[in-house]
Amino acid sequence: AAGLVIALDGTSGSGKSSTSRGVAARLGLAYLDTGAQFRAVTWWLLQQGVDVHDTTRVAALADTPRLVSGTDPGAPTITVDGEDVSGPIRSEAVNAAVSPVSAVPEVRARLLALQRAAISEALATGRGIVVEGRDIGSVVWPAAPVKVYLHADASARAARRATEEGGSDPSATEQSLLARDAIDSTRATAPLVRADGAVEIDTTPFTLDEVVGQVVGLAEAVE
Ligand code: C5P
Repeated sequence: AAGLVIALDGTSGSGKSSTSRGVAARLGLAYLDTGAQFRAVTWWLLQQGVDVHDTTRVAALADTPRLVSGTDPGAPTITVDGEDVSGPIRSEAVNAAVSPVSAVPEVRARLLALQRAAISEALATGRGIVVEGRDIGSVVWPAAPVKVYLHADASARAARRATEEGGSDPSATEQSLLARDAIDSTRATAPLVRADGAVEIDTTPFTLDEVVGQVVGLAEAVE
């Protein structure tokens, strides 16, 4: 799997994280969760009391928090200025604020540089990487030999996410996922799209293992 980059994009709650981690574990690849990076910046801005709709201020602060992403698919972590924020970045406050922050070009430019550096490092060490996000196949690493676009019915996504979150209200969860999709798909910079050459998988009828198996199959086919 040396040199392999798998770009895994898709809608919120489509199963990207579980699938990416499963594929990376099966193939012995590193794993980068770019959504966690956008969430970490958002968490930090909220901590600073910044209004996330104040794009001038968000843009001016985009480079300030120091982010370090772990790349172990078994235990993904992310730190901001040395603090592990893996838990707090999944809060409802961050869910509600992350899409406006992610639409700010300065935020994207800063994280794009970190993402490309992480991929280059994985390739330099001879270890491939699974990178999950919204714009990996379209913008971050268009040369990825395997590109996947995951989708699922909104109600299935909300039901899965509500279960993960320990029984939160599925209809509120569905509204939150759809609100993020709407912003992510319509922003001017690097919107969520199916990248050229990406294989689309509708995960609605499949188990996690089945979807992991499909992506592993795509990866084996290019090697
Ligand atoms: O994947 P996750 O749901 O954690 O992503 C959170 C948010 O981060 C997305 O709704 C989107 O606004 C943003 N994001 C992005 N580009 C990426 C990954 C995530 O804009 N590559």
